Amino acid sequence: MHFAGAFPATRMRRNRRDAWTRALVAENALTVADLIWPIFLTEGENRQDPVPSMPGVIRVSVDRVAEHCAQAVELGIPAVALFPYTPVEKRDEEGTGALDPENLMCRAARALKAAHPGLGIIGDVALDTHTVHGHDGVLRDGYVHNEDTAEILCRMAVLMAEAGVDVVAPSDMMDGRIGSIRAALDARGLIHTRIMSYAAKYASGFYAPFRDAVGSTGALRGDKKTYQMDPANTDEALREVALDLAEGADMVMVKPGLPYLDIVHRVRREFGAPTFVYQVSGEYSMIMAAVERGWLDHDRAMMEALMAFKRAGANGVLSYFAVAAARLLRSG
Ligand code: PBG
Repeated sequence: MHFAGAFPATRMRRNRRDAWTRALVAENALTVADLIWPIFLTEGENRQDPVPSMPGVIRVSVDRVAEHCAQAVELGIPAVALFPYTPVEKRDEEGTGALDPENLMCRAARALKAAHPGLGIIGDVALDTHTVHGHDGVLRDGYVHNEDTAEILCRMAVLMAEAGVDVVAPSDMMDGRIGSIRAALDARGLIHTRIMSYAAKYASGFYAPFRDAVGSTGALRGDKKTYQMDPANTDEALREVALDLAEGADMVMVKPGLPYLDIVHRVRREFGAPTFVYQVSGEYSMIMAAVERGWLDHDRAMMEALMAFKRAGANGVLSYFAVAAARLLRSG
């Protein structure tokens, strides 16, 4: 880029002087169509339980999920992403709850499809919300076994798709699972089911409130560093994305968001594939904690963070702020 001219002929502040010129020269825009709303599900009836470490976020029972998501539908949010809360006493070593056709995910998908046929449903494919040890896969000699895990995830993805999940989103970081899941879906004729791959997912400290929300906090043994990425790495993220696209991913995701904007930017630039970013629980809770103390303005911090994802090149954002942001966008 080359700009002729220097001060005082050039005054960068001229275009900033009035709201209408600022609007004309804005390079990026955030719209309601960019937002995906994560939803936590819980057993029971008539429940809307607050998640203590995520102010404003609830776990909702299946009988209330359609009503809960109606706000998103009315605002024009294209999709929700479902996550089940499973207390430790309901979990087991192999995460068999993931393969129960009557589990929270499947029941919620059926309820949402019936109530809101135009709402996209994204389902998380991983075992961490079902295993007693809190890992995303099954343990063999203390190590998360790649192929055994992938095989279970294939069955989980088919089950979810048959229940009405439109987009399966493997968040487990096993090698080769995108190709296996695509093949398993196709073998069942589920050729329209999309795959949103958590392609570049880092072993992050920012997931802590999420683990509260899904009941994994006390459960997780050790950490996830043998499968999730090292925060030191960039090129490796591009290799992960390249592999997942080659295996048939329809959309790729980078996670977490704000600390990894460089990754979002490079992924979008290098591949030009639909690129999503997850503004994770810790990012949400940091802002909300500061808001509660009066240290940050809620709306400004929320919108600035969301705009940063657009500027970096994301096509869309999974955000716990989705409904609040959509309301603000609609109001003016
Ligand atoms: C697990 C999963 C995690 C999140 C989404 N799917 C947590 C983890 O990997 O431990 C985190 C989302 C968030 O923090 O908001 N498969």
